[in-house]
Amino acid sequence: QRLTMETEFLIVGAGPAGASLGCFLARYGISGLMISAASGTADTPRAHINNMAALETLRDIGLWDDCKKLGVHGPIIRNYRWCESMSGEEYARNFAWGNGERMGDYEQVSPCHHMDLPQWLLEPILVRYATANGFKLRFDTELLSFIQDKPDGKITCSVKDNITGSEFQIVTKYLFGADGGRSVVAKQLDLPMTVIPGGGLAYNILVRADLGHLMQHREGILHWCLRLHRDYPFMFTGRMVKPWNEWMFVVFPKGPDSPVPSYSNEEWGNVVADYIDDPSVEVKVLNVSKWMINETSADSISKGNIFCLGDAIHRHPPTLGMGSNTSIQDSFNLAWKIALVSNGVASPKLLETYNAERQPVGAQLVKLSNDTLRKHIAVWMALGVMPPGSPEKLRLATIRALKENSPKGREARKNLKEKVDDMQHETHALGIEMGQTYVSRAVYSSDELGPYKSEGKEAEDPQLFYTPSTYPGRRLPHVWLNTPIPGNMVSTLDVAGKGGFSLFTGIGGDGWKAAAEGVSKELGMEIKSVSIGPGQDWEDAYLDWVDKRGVQEDGAVLVRPDFFVAWRANESGNELERLRKALKSVLHLS
Ligand code: FDA
Repeated sequence: QRLTMETEFLIVGAGPAGASLGCFLARYGISGLMISAASGTADTPRAHINNMAALETLRDIGLWDDCKKLGVHGPIIRNYRWCESMSGEEYARNFAWGNGERMGDYEQVSPCHHMDLPQWLLEPILVRYATANGFKLRFDTELLSFIQDKPDGKITCSVKDNITGSEFQIVTKYLFGADGGRSVVAKQLDLPMTVIPGGGLAYNILVRADLGHLMQHREGILHWCLRLHRDYPFMFTGRMVKPWNEWMFVVFPKGPDSPVPSYSNEEWGNVVADYIDDPSVEVKVLNVSKWMINETSADSISKGNIFCLGDAIHRHPPTLGMGSNTSIQDSFNLAWKIALVSNGVASPKLLETYNAERQPVGAQLVKLSNDTLRKHIAVWMALGVMPPGSPEKLRLATIRALKENSPKGREARKNLKEKVDDMQHETHALGIEMGQTYVSRAVYSSDELGPYKSEGKEAEDPQLFYTPSTYPGRRLPHVWLNTPIPGNMVSTLDVAGKGGFSLFTGIGGDGWKAAAEGVSKELGMEIKSVSIGPGQDWEDAYLDWVDKRGVQEDGAVLVRPDFFVAWRANESGNELERLRKALKSVLHLS
């Protein structure tokens, strides 16, 4: 008879997806168990760019300051470059991550800012919060398989303790597969996957090398080194891990017919030194690892009480820098639904909306991350990158042309500018980061005149730009609020969230406050009502809410615990009935 333990909530995986889910469930007072096959948190830097949408979720549980202490932002992350080598000639650069001319666009839409916070620093923050607030974590514990064999629908998981080699069982009501790119849960659940083959194998070379003197006036966390003067069969990008003495060099195949060769650590050290191209720099290789460039997304991401999230359902290259960010937002979307269903406030049908809302986001991420890699190839070609084995004369022909006063030169410069400009779709993809519109029964849009239509700059380019809107299914717009007694300003996002629904109104919206209280009592769930305007609970510091609220002063905007708008009412009147109807629909109670 195998040892069996029981829990209601079993999370498999303690990476960004699993550990953040532990945090978000714990904030609802839910306790459970996380297991991870690894011996600890990430042992290499891995994901590093943390965007505002993901950081807002961590701000909601009080982890923003912890992230700020360890992450770097501002000038250090300002540039994205293409150069011959780390010390060599620069061919092009873009501003990145909310710097340069896009700074205002970024500052206006979030109380958080982009930062570079490598996964090996982020995971301990998440794990500490989750384990301090109700989740137990067992490392070196691997899920082998599971069956759903109990009459009550519970799931029996077979698990191995990788230290002692002993196997035991965990019986759980909810199972969360946050077990990464080789997910046992997704595989055994037989989730249908769209797989586009052919990405190939890439390498990460983690090194200690002090490049501080090379970074003056060239600060940035990503530097594509082309090394056109050499004939390497791969492409190379230098990524800052710790300014400026720890780096990850990521090696990509040049094409499907030129796989990255397998080198010893010493050989990789020599290659890195050549790409740095400064004999005064000492290079110490700390770690070499390989990974697959995937283009795989799940067509459905849950079945019954089993949910998959993170890389288990979206696998793609690091281009676009959104893997960990999206994984954390998968968790944030799921946690409030699980909490409301497990405490009996919402119908279990609410859980089906996890699939409706997050599957399209994951599938889009996989496509766009790979499209971004394909766009990089266009930049390489605009700089003259050739297939391996091409003679030096040909390899340098484009660089020479770029400097020529000739029609060929003008054409080459025009082409390079076009391709580099297009890379803003990677480094300033504000629309992709913030512009999701959820279409599901967890939002109530029946009172709207039609489906959501992009406005402003977002209508021109929905990848580059994001126009805040309170249309149901969009993110609550960030607006700075002041108290009547001046103090620290807070964001609308600081007022909303915190594990509950909130109802935003303004002068003349007293009826909504009463309705929120009434519906709260009826449903056994707190709805916080918030009034914005002169003399109200909060003052609209920059009179920004007036532009962004999307309803009349006496209207209302109902916001879900994950900051997405559930419903809005253009004006006051019949408040109790209208709010009840919308909320009951969102909770699948009608
Ligand atoms: P992740 O793989 O991190 O975690 C899986 C967890 O499951 C681990 O705890 C593991 O031990 C556990 N596990 C696996 N199988 C198990 C089993 N059978 N039983 C128990 N536990 C099991 N993203 C981003 O947002 N910004 C970026 O800049 C980058 N950059 C980047 C660079 C490079 C080089 C790479 C390779 C990747 C990135 N990414 C990224 C992607 C990012 O690393 C990735 O998307 C996240 O780690 C996904 O988080 P998950 O928690 O889903 O999986």
